[in-house]
Formats: sequence, C-alpha cells, structure tokens
Amino acid sequence: MKWFKVLNKAQIPNSDSIKTIEVNGKQLCIINNEDKITATQSFCPHAGGHFSGGWCKNGHLICPIHRYEYNLETGRGAEGQGDYINIYPTELRDDGLYVGFEESWWSKLWS
Ligand code: FES
Repeated sequence: MKWFKVLNKAQIPNSDSIKTIEVNGKQLCIINNEDKITATQSFCPHAGGHFSGGWCKNGHLICPIHRYEYNLETGRGAEGQGDYINIYPTELRDDGLYVGFEESWWSKLWS
C-alpha cells in the first residue's frame, strides 16, 4: 500500500460535506459523513455524474444525477443497481489526511 497525503487537517471537509481532490493522477471525493471520512472515486459508474454534488443518507453516498446509492463502507450499489464504486483507505495522521493505494505488481516493476 502506498500512502499519499491529500489534505491538511484544516482542509478536511466539515461534517456532511464532500470535497474533490486530485492525488496520484486520480480525482477522488473526500466525504465526511457524520464525522467519518471516506475516500471514493469521483464519478458515478451509472452515467458519469460527479459525486461532489451528492449527499449522504443512512451510510450511503447519493449521486445527484439519478440518485443511485452507494454504501460508503463497501462501495456496493443499492439492490438492483448491480454496480459499485471504489473506496480507498484513509488514515488521519498528525499532519493531515492520507489516502492509500494498492500497489500493483507492474507499478513495483517500473518504480
Ligand atoms: S449518473 Fe449517478 S445515478 Fe445516474
């Protein structure tokens, strides 16, 4: 796992808000749902809606376009959707928020 610092503590979104960031060549959404921080992909797999305009409800991220729902712990779409979103591990350290990315075998070969 490779960890990247994405935000200083003061930049972490307030409770029940979403912030878009860019890290390791990817755009992610940092979501604060009742003071629990989650990092997700930023675009909805249904039709590409941007999650930055979404909101949280009962532990799910709601896409603002067609209101598909995604579990903030597992990334799984609600029943019947048949899709999912990527959830990235987060760690709050003394100097800010970090997001972890799995290292693939080929990235180790070329780094
Ligand atoms: S684009 Fe997200 S629900 Fe349709």
